[in-house]
Amino acid sequence: MRLPDGFLDELRARTPLAAVIGRRVKLARSGRQSKGCCPFHNEKSPSFYVYEDGFHCFGCGAHGDAVGFVMQSQGLGFMDAVEMLAGEAGLEMPRPSLAAVEEERRRVDLHGVLAAAAQLYQRRLFTQDGALALAYLRDRGLTDATIEKFGLGWTGPVRGQLASGLASQEIDTGLLVEAGLLRESDDGRPPYDLFFNRVMFPIRDRRGRVISFGGRILGDGQPKYVNGPETALFSKRRTLFALDLARENTRNGCDVVVVEGYMDVIALHQAGFGGAVAPLGTALTEEQLDELWRLSPVPILCFDGDAAGARAALKAVELALPKLTAEQSLRLVALPANEDPDTLVRRSGSRAFQQVLGEARPISTALFSMIAEGVGPSPEQRASLRTKLKAAADLIPDRSLSSEMFQAFLLQFKESRPQPARNPSAFGGRSGFRSVKPPPAFHRPTPGAHTASVERARMLLAILLRHPYLLHDVEEAFGLLELSPDHQKLRDSILQWGAAGSTLDTEALITHLTQTGLAAQAAQALSAVPTPLPACASADAMPAEAESGWWHFFGLMNPDRLEDEVANASRAFETMPDEMAQRRLIALCAARDALRRGRTGWDDNGPEDHA
Ligand code: UTP
Ligand code: MN
Repeated sequence: MRLPDGFLDELRARTPLAAVIGRRVKLARSGRQSKGCCPFHNEKSPSFYVYEDGFHCFGCGAHGDAVGFVMQSQGLGFMDAVEMLAGEAGLEMPRPSLAAVEEERRRVDLHGVLAAAAQLYQRRLFTQDGALALAYLRDRGLTDATIEKFGLGWTGPVRGQLASGLASQEIDTGLLVEAGLLRESDDGRPPYDLFFNRVMFPIRDRRGRVISFGGRILGDGQPKYVNGPETALFSKRRTLFALDLARENTRNGCDVVVVEGYMDVIALHQAGFGGAVAPLGTALTEEQLDELWRLSPVPILCFDGDAAGARAALKAVELALPKLTAEQSLRLVALPANEDPDTLVRRSGSRAFQQVLGEARPISTALFSMIAEGVGPSPEQRASLRTKLKAAADLIPDRSLSSEMFQAFLLQFKESRPQPARNPSAFGGRSGFRSVKPPPAFHRPTPGAHTASVERARMLLAILLRHPYLLHDVEEAFGLLELSPDHQKLRDSILQWGAAGSTLDTEALITHLTQTGLAAQAAQALSAVPTPLPACASADAMPAEAESGWWHFFGLMNPDRLEDEVANASRAFETMPDEMAQRRLIALCAARDALRRGRTGWDDNGPEDHA
């Protein structure tokens, strides 16, 4: 029960603290306060002080007001202590307001009603009555395990089947209305089913309790989905579909990915992307963003590759800008045209979606492209673009981030300066935010960046030369790197040697490289020029250090792939949680986190100085 406002104040005002405590403790007046020996610990000289509104023991730290004293000295609960003191003070205990009790009871009841309905729908899906619906879901590629996990169900083909199905449970019709399952009719007839002849998608809260439903028609027809109305339990703008599952899965390292539809979320979970969630058919809200940030510092928003998708992305970013901090940002990605995540993973498999996620761009570049979309080369247009960029950065209240964001915009702004040789519409395609070339540092190396990336590759080679036992763990990623011709030769030779089943030690590897005529290249890879090797490349680095160092430099060369590797490793660890998988996951996460924190070098004079 909640006490009404003011009741406790009234109680305290009427309860002379010194008198209450004085019954148990011998108090001596000392100025405005009194003191005595603390009843809560053993002491000979008094360190227990009683003030007008509270007590404090300087010996043991016991502390509180009259209610607290009664609770602690008599071992009573809060309400019992209040009741006792109220009795002494001649105050009548307030009775719990009927409305409050009733409200609480209704909430509990509503959860029960929704759970019962979900069970009913779920059972029906697997009866003869639900055969078509079940076939429909299976035909869309869902496994029975997935159908079960999401609690999908079937209403039955006609109205009235909810009430009849729940008849034995004697649920009050009013509750069914309040739960958003029945709708009151205008003409005095009994409430009727909101959902019938539909496949049911339970919508759950973050704790996994059913709070509403989306109901999909079988096949084509309008409306495609009917969603439950706002109720005491269900607020559309605060809810994300599958948040309960995503919360679990992101703890195991899944990326948080926001997609558009229920079916997208379900297909993605089935394909191994357990961090997928969706808003409920509306644009992303501020409340939903906050929920997402509770799961991940940089959730990925995935939009359709069309104009509507681009608009939605812009809206989401506008919503996010005033809330951005160094620890709280977004990544954005657009899907290939005419695909949604569901069709993409079904047609092209998980890898295809993984690749899409790998293309996710931070706000700094995605937003630049959105704003710069379609801006022409004239000085006036350029000036206006610059103003818009400033205005966007100014929306970030965190001043240092705002200034960094603007700097990042300016770099791209300069990059995009019209040049005779370049296609004036370099900001590209219809959807805008995807088509602009990624920032120069990575994909279009400037000479400085080129040196840095060659040096990074050299670090990767050096670590492997000194710690060849890492080879099997990293070989796939290693094989994908874009390397200079010399480094490529080294790599090919190393991979060949690894594949031949050799004992993975440095001596054997160097011998092999020498025999294949690559001694000079190997020596160069291990030399201290142009930059000294990092500690993780030294022969006495611990394996864990060498491994996370390797991934670190890999991540510097290819940040998106590093994210992929983390995701893969976390999946691998889930399926087979052995020590090796764990070590790998830890190394990857360490490397990724270091990169996210903006640590770009393993040591101070690392290759970054050249970038
Ligand atoms: P989609 O039309 O993309 O639905 O709408 P979907 O989930 O991919 O379903 P399939 O693949 O066609 O079966 C995206 C989301 O918009 C909301 C739903 O939340 C849906 O998941 N929506 C859509 C509605 O609320 N009502 C509608 O009539 C349509
Ligand atoms: Mn769809």
